[in-house]
Amino acid sequence: MEVFSKIEELLAEINSAQPTSKEELETFRIRFLGTKNIIKPLFGEIKSVANERKKEFGQAVNSLKQAAEEKHSQLKEQMEDADASSAKSEMDLSLPAAPMAQGSRHPISIVMNRMIDIFEKIGFIVAEEREIEDDWHNFTAMNTPADHPARDMQDTFYLKNSISDLLRTHTSSVQARVMTTQKPPIRIIAPGRVYRNETISARSHCQFHQIEGLYIDEDVSFADMKQTLLYFAREMYGPETNIRLRPSYFPFTEPSAEMDVWLGTDTTATKKLTKGTGWLEVLGCGMVDPNVLKNCEIDPEKYTGYAFGIGIERTAMQNFNIGDIRLLFENDVRFLRQFSSVI
Ligand code: DAH
Repeated sequence: MEVFSKIEELLAEINSAQPTSKEELETFRIRFLGTKNIIKPLFGEIKSVANERKKEFGQAVNSLKQAAEEKHSQLKEQMEDADASSAKSEMDLSLPAAPMAQGSRHPISIVMNRMIDIFEKIGFIVAEEREIEDDWHNFTAMNTPADHPARDMQDTFYLKNSISDLLRTHTSSVQARVMTTQKPPIRIIAPGRVYRNETISARSHCQFHQIEGLYIDEDVSFADMKQTLLYFAREMYGPETNIRLRPSYFPFTEPSAEMDVWLGTDTTATKKLTKGTGWLEVLGCGMVDPNVLKNCEIDPEKYTGYAFGIGIERTAMQNFNIGDIRLLFENDVRFLRQFSSVI
Protein backbone atom coordinates (compact mmCIF):
# COMPACT_ATOMS: atom_id res chain seq x y z
CA MET A 1 0.00 0.00 0.00
CA GLU A 2 1.20 3.43 -0.87
CA VAL A 3 0.95 4.97 2.62
CA PHE A 4 3.12 2.16 4.02
CA SER A 5 5.80 2.74 1.42
CA LYS A 6 5.63 6.46 2.18
CA ILE A 7 6.42 5.62 5.82
CA GLU A 8 9.33 3.41 4.72
CA GLU A 9 10.68 6.21 2.57
CA LEU A 10 10.51 8.76 5.36
CA LEU A 11 12.14 6.37 7.82
CA ALA A 12 15.03 5.82 5.41
CA GLU A 13 15.38 9.57 5.03
CA ILE A 14 15.49 10.05 8.81
CA ASN A 15 18.05 7.31 9.29
CA SER A 16 20.38 8.58 6.64
CA ALA A 17 20.11 12.28 7.54
CA GLN A 18 23.57 13.78 7.97
CA PRO A 19 23.21 17.55 8.62
CA THR A 20 26.58 19.29 8.75
CA SER A 21 25.48 22.65 10.10
CA LYS A 22 23.06 24.07 12.62
CA GLU A 23 20.93 25.34 9.72
CA GLU A 24 20.67 21.89 8.19
CA LEU A 25 19.75 20.44 11.55
CA GLU A 26 17.02 23.06 11.89
CA THR A 27 15.71 22.14 8.42
CA PHE A 28 15.56 18.51 9.58
CA ARG A 29 13.66 19.55 12.73
CA ILE A 30 11.11 21.63 10.81
CA ARG A 31 10.53 18.85 8.25
CA PHE A 32 9.97 16.07 10.78
CA LEU A 33 9.08 17.73 14.06
CA GLY A 34 7.90 21.30 13.28
CA THR A 35 4.26 22.39 13.63
CA LYS A 36 3.63 21.62 9.96
CA ASN A 37 5.79 18.53 9.83
CA ILE A 38 5.55 15.87 7.19
CA ILE A 39 4.50 13.08 9.55
CA LYS A 40 1.36 14.77 10.87
CA PRO A 41 -0.76 14.39 7.67
CA LEU A 42 -0.03 10.67 7.71
CA PHE A 43 -2.24 10.27 10.78
CA GLY A 44 -5.14 11.44 8.61
CA GLU A 45 -4.40 8.74 6.05
CA ILE A 46 -5.69 6.08 8.44
CA LYS A 47 -9.09 6.48 6.81
CA SER A 48 -7.77 4.98 3.61
CA VAL A 49 -6.20 1.97 5.32
CA ALA A 50 -8.02 -1.33 5.39
CA ASN A 51 -9.54 -2.13 8.79
CA GLU A 52 -7.34 -5.11 9.51
CA ARG A 53 -4.18 -3.02 8.97
CA LYS A 54 -5.27 0.11 10.84
CA LYS A 55 -3.52 -0.94 14.01
CA GLU A 56 -0.29 -1.77 12.20
CA PHE A 57 -0.43 1.56 10.40
CA GLY A 58 -0.93 3.54 13.60
CA GLN A 59 2.06 1.86 15.18
CA ALA A 60 4.21 2.48 12.12
CA VAL A 61 3.40 6.21 12.09
CA ASN A 62 4.09 6.47 15.81
CA SER A 63 7.44 4.78 15.55
CA LEU A 64 8.29 7.01 12.60
CA LYS A 65 7.65 10.03 14.81
CA GLN A 66 9.73 8.54 17.58
CA ALA A 67 12.58 7.78 15.19
CA ALA A 68 12.56 11.42 14.07
CA GLU A 69 12.72 12.64 17.69
CA GLU A 70 15.54 10.31 18.61
CA LYS A 71 17.55 11.13 15.53
CA HIS A 72 17.13 14.84 16.19
CA SER A 73 18.33 14.71 19.76
CA GLN A 74 21.25 12.50 18.78
CA LEU A 75 22.31 14.87 16.02
CA LYS A 76 21.90 17.86 18.32
CA GLU A 77 24.13 16.28 20.95
CA GLN A 78 26.79 15.40 18.38
CA MET A 79 26.82 18.96 17.16
CA GLU A 80 27.15 20.37 20.71
CA ASP A 81 30.08 18.02 21.44
CA ALA A 82 31.81 19.09 18.27
CA ASP A 83 31.26 22.74 19.26
CA ALA A 84 32.85 22.15 22.66
CA SER A 85 35.96 20.49 21.27
CA SER A 86 36.47 23.13 18.62
CA ALA A 87 36.19 25.75 21.38
CA LYS A 88 38.99 23.91 23.16
CA SER A 89 41.28 24.03 20.19
CA GLU A 90 40.68 27.75 20.00
CA MET A 91 42.16 28.18 23.49
CA ASP A 92 44.56 31.08 23.82
CA LEU A 93 47.86 29.39 24.59
CA SER A 94 49.64 32.68 25.12
CA LEU A 95 47.65 33.44 28.29
CA PRO A 96 49.65 33.15 31.53
CA ALA A 97 49.09 29.85 33.37
CA ALA A 98 46.95 29.65 36.47
CA PRO A 99 49.22 30.09 39.49
CA MET A 100 50.29 26.83 41.12
CA ALA A 101 50.78 26.90 44.87
CA GLN A 102 54.25 25.74 45.88
CA GLY A 103 54.28 23.07 48.52
CA SER A 104 57.05 22.48 51.02
CA ARG A 105 58.73 19.48 52.48
CA HIS A 106 58.12 18.56 56.07
CA PRO A 107 61.17 19.27 58.25
CA ILE A 108 61.27 15.58 59.24
CA SER A 109 61.44 14.57 55.56
CA ILE A 110 64.15 17.14 54.91
CA VAL A 111 66.39 15.73 57.63
CA MET A 112 65.55 12.14 56.81
CA ASN A 113 66.33 12.60 53.10
CA ARG A 114 69.64 14.23 53.97
CA MET A 115 70.62 11.27 56.13
CA ILE A 116 69.46 8.75 53.52
CA ASP A 117 71.61 10.51 50.89
CA ILE A 118 74.65 10.29 53.14
CA PHE A 119 74.32 6.55 53.70
CA GLU A 120 73.28 5.75 50.12
CA LYS A 121 76.55 7.28 48.94
CA ILE A 122 78.45 4.50 50.72
CA GLY A 123 76.24 1.65 49.55
CA PHE A 124 73.45 1.38 52.11
CA ILE A 125 70.10 0.46 50.59
CA VAL A 126 66.78 1.76 51.92
CA ALA A 127 64.56 -0.93 53.44
CA GLU A 128 61.02 0.06 54.37
CA GLU A 129 58.82 -2.09 56.53
CA ARG A 130 55.51 -2.19 58.38
CA GLU A 131 54.59 0.06 61.30
CA ILE A 132 52.22 -2.54 62.71
CA GLU A 133 54.59 -5.21 63.87
CA ASP A 134 54.46 -8.37 65.89
CA ASP A 135 56.09 -8.96 69.20
CA TRP A 136 58.67 -11.31 67.72
CA HIS A 137 60.20 -8.88 65.21
CA ASN A 138 60.02 -5.88 67.53
CA PHE A 139 61.29 -7.55 70.70
CA THR A 140 61.98 -11.28 70.81
CA ALA A 141 64.17 -11.51 67.70
CA MET A 142 66.01 -8.43 68.93
CA ASN A 143 67.11 -10.35 72.01
CA THR A 144 64.41 -8.83 74.19
CA PRO A 145 62.27 -11.76 75.39
CA ALA A 146 58.98 -11.26 77.20
CA ASP A 147 60.42 -11.07 80.71
CA HIS A 148 63.28 -8.80 79.72
CA PRO A 149 63.40 -5.59 81.78
CA ALA A 150 64.38 -3.61 78.67
CA ARG A 151 60.79 -3.91 77.46
CA ASP A 152 59.87 -1.36 80.09
CA MET A 153 62.19 1.14 78.43
CA GLN A 154 59.80 1.29 75.52
CA ASP A 155 56.17 1.64 76.54
CA THR A 156 54.35 -0.20 73.84
CA PHE A 157 51.02 0.37 72.14
CA TYR A 158 49.50 -3.07 71.64
CA LEU A 159 46.67 -3.47 69.14
CA LYS A 160 43.21 -4.05 70.53
CA ASN A 161 42.34 -7.72 71.07
CA SER A 162 45.86 -8.84 70.40
CA ILE A 163 48.67 -9.88 72.66
CA SER A 164 51.27 -9.90 69.93
CA ASP A 165 50.46 -7.17 67.41
CA LEU A 166 51.80 -3.77 68.27
CA LEU A 167 52.93 -0.46 66.83
CA ARG A 168 56.68 -0.82 66.41
CA THR A 169 58.58 0.95 69.14
CA HIS A 170 61.75 1.28 67.07
CA THR A 171 62.97 0.72 63.54
CA SER A 172 65.16 -2.10 64.88
CA SER A 173 62.24 -4.39 63.98
CA VAL A 174 63.29 -3.91 60.35
CA GLN A 175 66.60 -5.59 61.21
CA ALA A 176 64.70 -8.78 62.04
CA ARG A 177 62.52 -8.47 58.92
CA VAL A 178 65.56 -8.09 56.67
CA MET A 179 67.75 -10.70 58.34
CA THR A 180 65.05 -13.36 58.12
CA THR A 181 64.47 -12.73 54.40
CA GLN A 182 67.91 -11.84 53.03
CA LYS A 183 71.32 -13.42 53.12
CA PRO A 184 74.50 -11.53 54.08
CA PRO A 185 76.10 -9.35 52.97
CA ILE A 186 73.33 -7.04 54.21
CA ARG A 187 73.75 -3.29 54.16
CA ILE A 188 70.52 -1.40 54.78
CA ILE A 189 69.10 1.72 56.32
CA ALA A 190 65.49 1.76 57.47
CA PRO A 191 63.89 5.16 57.88
CA GLY A 192 60.44 5.32 59.39
CA ARG A 193 57.94 6.21 62.04
CA VAL A 194 57.82 4.57 65.46
CA TYR A 195 55.41 4.78 68.39
CA ARG A 196 55.66 4.75 72.16
CA ASN A 197 53.06 5.25 74.80
CA GLU A 198 54.50 8.43 76.21
CA THR A 199 52.89 11.56 77.56
CA ILE A 200 52.91 14.22 74.90
CA SER A 201 54.82 17.35 75.85
CA ALA A 202 57.04 19.96 74.20
CA ARG A 203 59.96 17.52 74.41
CA SER A 204 58.43 14.10 73.77
CA HIS A 205 55.68 12.62 71.62
CA CYS A 206 53.97 9.26 71.21
CA GLN A 207 55.14 9.10 67.58
CA PHE A 208 58.52 9.97 66.17
CA HIS A 209 61.01 8.92 63.49
CA GLN A 210 64.22 6.94 63.37
CA ILE A 211 66.72 5.70 60.83
CA GLU A 212 68.06 2.25 61.51
CA GLY A 213 71.33 1.07 60.00
CA LEU A 214 72.50 -2.53 59.67
CA TYR A 215 75.60 -4.02 58.13
CA ILE A 216 76.25 -7.77 58.24
CA ASP A 217 79.11 -9.52 56.49
CA GLU A 218 82.18 -11.59 57.22
CA ASP A 219 84.77 -9.81 59.39
CA VAL A 220 82.80 -6.65 60.15
CA SER A 221 84.51 -4.93 63.08
CA PHE A 222 83.82 -2.23 65.63
CA ALA A 223 86.41 -0.12 63.78
CA ASP A 224 84.32 -0.39 60.59
CA MET A 225 81.33 0.90 62.51
CA LYS A 226 83.26 3.77 64.01
CA GLN A 227 84.60 4.82 60.61
CA THR A 228 81.13 4.77 59.04
CA LEU A 229 79.67 6.81 61.87
CA LEU A 230 82.51 9.33 61.71
CA TYR A 231 81.86 9.71 57.99
CA PHE A 232 78.17 10.25 58.73
CA ALA A 233 78.88 12.86 61.43
CA ARG A 234 81.23 14.80 59.16
CA GLU A 235 78.78 14.81 56.26
CA MET A 236 75.98 15.89 58.56
CA TYR A 237 77.69 18.36 60.90
CA GLY A 238 80.72 19.54 58.90
CA PRO A 239 84.12 18.15 57.83
CA GLU A 240 85.92 19.05 61.05
CA THR A 241 83.40 17.30 63.30
CA ASN A 242 84.69 14.90 65.92
CA ILE A 243 82.79 12.09 67.59
CA ARG A 244 83.06 10.06 70.74
CA LEU A 245 81.54 6.67 71.58
CA ARG A 246 80.34 6.20 75.13
CA PRO A 247 79.70 2.66 76.45
CA SER A 248 75.97 2.00 76.73
CA TYR A 249 73.47 -0.83 76.80
CA PHE A 250 70.99 -2.15 74.22
CA PRO A 251 69.69 -5.73 74.28
CA PHE A 252 70.41 -6.26 70.57
CA THR A 253 74.03 -5.11 70.49
CA GLU A 254 77.16 -6.21 72.33
CA PRO A 255 79.14 -4.12 72.93
CA SER A 256 76.79 -1.14 72.73
CA ALA A 257 77.61 2.55 72.56
CA GLU A 258 76.11 5.97 72.18
CA MET A 259 77.66 8.43 69.80
CA ASP A 260 78.10 12.10 70.61
CA VAL A 261 79.32 14.77 68.20
CA TRP A 262 81.47 17.65 69.34
CA LEU A 263 79.73 20.96 68.75
CA GLY A 264 81.76 22.95 71.27
CA THR A 265 80.58 25.62 73.65
CA ASP A 266 81.58 28.69 71.65
CA THR A 267 78.09 30.01 71.03
CA THR A 268 75.12 30.31 73.34
CA ALA A 269 73.19 28.01 70.99
CA THR A 270 75.73 25.15 71.16
CA LYS A 271 76.11 25.70 74.90
CA LYS A 272 72.37 25.26 75.31
CA LEU A 273 72.12 22.29 72.93
CA THR A 274 74.93 20.42 74.63
CA LYS A 275 73.92 21.44 78.12
CA GLY A 276 77.30 23.09 78.58
CA THR A 277 79.32 19.95 77.73
CA GLY A 278 80.03 20.65 74.05
CA TRP A 279 78.92 17.08 73.21
CA LEU A 280 75.61 16.31 71.52
CA GLU A 281 74.12 12.82 71.74
CA VAL A 282 73.18 11.65 68.23
CA LEU A 283 72.64 7.91 68.04
CA GLY A 284 72.80 4.46 69.62
CA CYS A 285 74.93 1.74 68.05
CA GLY A 286 76.87 -1.45 68.60
CA MET A 287 77.94 -4.83 67.27
CA VAL A 288 74.92 -7.02 66.49
CA ASP A 289 74.49 -9.46 69.39
CA PRO A 290 75.16 -13.08 68.25
CA ASN A 291 71.78 -14.01 69.74
CA VAL A 292 70.06 -11.70 67.24
CA LEU A 293 71.90 -13.34 64.36
CA LYS A 294 70.95 -16.79 65.70
CA ASN A 295 67.29 -15.78 66.08
CA CYS A 296 67.30 -14.78 62.42
CA GLU A 297 69.13 -17.91 61.31
CA ILE A 298 72.38 -16.22 60.39
CA ASP A 299 75.49 -18.07 61.52
CA PRO A 300 77.23 -15.94 64.17
CA GLU A 301 80.43 -17.99 63.73
CA LYS A 302 80.66 -16.85 60.15
CA TYR A 303 79.12 -13.40 60.20
CA THR A 304 79.40 -10.29 62.33
CA GLY A 305 77.81 -6.91 61.94
CA TYR A 306 77.02 -3.54 63.38
CA ALA A 307 73.79 -1.63 63.79
CA PHE A 308 72.79 1.87 64.73
CA GLY A 309 69.63 3.86 65.37
CA ILE A 310 69.35 7.61 64.82
CA GLY A 311 66.50 9.74 66.16
CA ILE A 312 65.27 12.26 63.60
CA GLU A 313 63.16 14.69 65.62
CA ARG A 314 65.96 16.06 67.75
CA THR A 315 68.15 16.79 64.73
CA ALA A 316 65.25 18.44 62.90
CA MET A 317 64.48 20.58 65.93
CA GLN A 318 68.12 21.64 66.25
CA ASN A 319 68.53 22.33 62.53
CA PHE A 320 65.45 24.49 62.24
CA ASN A 321 65.37 25.86 65.75
CA ILE A 322 62.00 24.32 66.55
CA GLY A 323 61.22 24.62 70.23
CA ASP A 324 58.25 22.26 70.55
CA ILE A 325 58.08 18.72 69.12
CA ARG A 326 54.27 18.93 68.82
CA LEU A 327 54.63 21.43 65.97
CA LEU A 328 56.00 18.58 63.86
CA PHE A 329 52.75 16.63 64.07
CA GLU A 330 50.06 19.29 63.92
CA ASN A 331 50.28 20.02 60.18
CA ASP A 332 49.63 23.69 60.70
CA VAL A 333 50.35 25.24 57.30
CA ARG A 334 51.65 28.44 58.92
CA PHE A 335 54.40 26.30 60.42
CA LEU A 336 54.96 24.08 57.36
CA ARG A 337 55.15 26.98 54.89
CA GLN A 338 58.31 28.20 56.56
CA PHE A 339 60.21 25.30 55.00
CA SER A 340 59.27 25.99 51.40
CA SER A 341 62.76 27.21 50.50
CA VAL A 342 64.54 24.15 51.92
CA ILE A 343 64.95 21.08 49.76
N1 DAH B 1 66.39 0.86 68.87
C1 DAH B 1 67.08 1.78 69.77
C2 DAH B 1 66.05 2.74 70.36
O1 DAH B 1 65.01 2.91 69.80
C3 DAH B 1 68.12 2.54 69.04
C4 DAH B 1 69.25 1.70 68.64
C5 DAH B 1 70.35 1.52 69.46
C6 DAH B 1 69.27 1.03 67.45
C7 DAH B 1 71.42 0.75 69.14
C8 DAH B 1 70.33 0.22 67.09
C9 DAH B 1 71.40 0.09 67.95
O2 DAH B 1 70.39 -0.44 65.94
O3 DAH B 1 72.46 -0.67 67.59
O4 DAH B 1 66.31 3.33 71.36
